[in-house]
Amino acid sequence: MTTLTIMPANVTVEVAAGTNLLQAILDAGQALVTKCGGKASCGGCHIFLTGGRKGISKMTPEENAKLDTIVGIGSKSRLACQMTILGTEPVTVELLGALSG
Ligand code: FES
Repeated sequence: MTTLTIMPANVTVEVAAGTNLLQAILDAGQALVTKCGGKASCGGCHIFLTGGRKGISKMTPEENAKLDTIVGIGSKSRLACQMTILGTEPVTVELLGALSG
């Protein structure tokens, strides 16, 4: 288990290693648009990974390719549906609201 902090709501939840980040965010009661059902094709789950990079699975080529098509990405950009919480360190993410997608 480790902790996941979701900003800007500042919600912290306990999550098990192996949990999908998108699922963890939804389970925490936070809203994210998921039009593609987690297939790395809609971009709606674009978030910023602001803390605990080593606690998250590495970026896949599919995720990287989709991020390249999204306006407003930065060095912290990831797709929540493609991320697995490893449980090795606490993780902090920032939801982008209307900026997502
Ligand atoms: S849910 Fe569509 S890209 Fe992640």
